[in-house]
Amino acid sequence: MLMRGKFITLEGGEGAGKTTNLNLIQSYLLQQNIPVLLTREPGGTPLAEKIRDLLLENQSEKVSQEAELLLMFASRAQHLSELILPALESGKWVLCSRFTDSSYAYQGGGRGIDLNKIKILENFVQGDFQPDLTFYFDLPVEIGMARAKQRGELDRIEQEELNFFERVRQIYLQRAQEYPKRFRVIDANQSLETVAESILDILKKSL
Ligand SMILES: Nc1ncnc2c1ncn2[C@@H]1O[C@H](COP(=O)(O)OP(=O)(O)OP(=O)(O)O)[C@@H](O)[C@H]1O
Ligand SMILES: [Mg+2]
Repeated sequence: MLMRGKFITLEGGEGAGKTTNLNLIQSYLLQQNIPVLLTREPGGTPLAEKIRDLLLENQSEKVSQEAELLLMFASRAQHLSELILPALESGKWVLCSRFTDSSYAYQGGGRGIDLNKIKILENFVQGDFQPDLTFYFDLPVEIGMARAKQRGELDRIEQEELNFFERVRQIYLQRAQEYPKRFRVIDANQSLETVAESILDILKKSL
């Protein structure tokens, strides 16, 4: 019988190391002969990537908070039904950079939308589907921004003020406390080698 794959999400602020460590986890799983699918949010399918472009491009028109939140969940609905769930059913493990915790952190913490409203959309789009494991890369905001800036131009959301990202971080930490079974907080202000060691350690223990 085919085993359903596991769903692992990577969360954290700008430049915290999600993409870098997504690749590390992929290599580890492939070594164990586990089939892996790498993906990201917002995005992941052609339609969801179009929504991503709408969300992240710098536009002259102000994007309302509600429109931003709904577009995030519209792209997630598509991503889940057309990519993530079929892959898990086929036995693949899915590694996803950002998922619903990002909506709580950015649209809830950053923008200030009532977390209960986000919960309603979460239930609507995913029922009780949740990641099996979530790595949260925790980093002081200024350090993350410095890393992100080195990499190039900032997108629409990355151009927010520092306080916005402080609120994002607080919600992430709050959620990690609230859901300790699936969350693992990684101190991302350590060398890449040390971060990698902690991740591999956690993977060996929890999988
Ligand atoms: N622990 C670390 N120490 C030093 N540099 C790091 C560390 N982790 C990541 N970096 C570097 O910081 C930059 C951003 O890392 P990465 O792209 O993995 O972050 P990210 O979380 O995916 O960012 P984004 O949210 O913008 O996609 C890269 O240049 C990466 O090499
Ligand atoms: Mg990234």
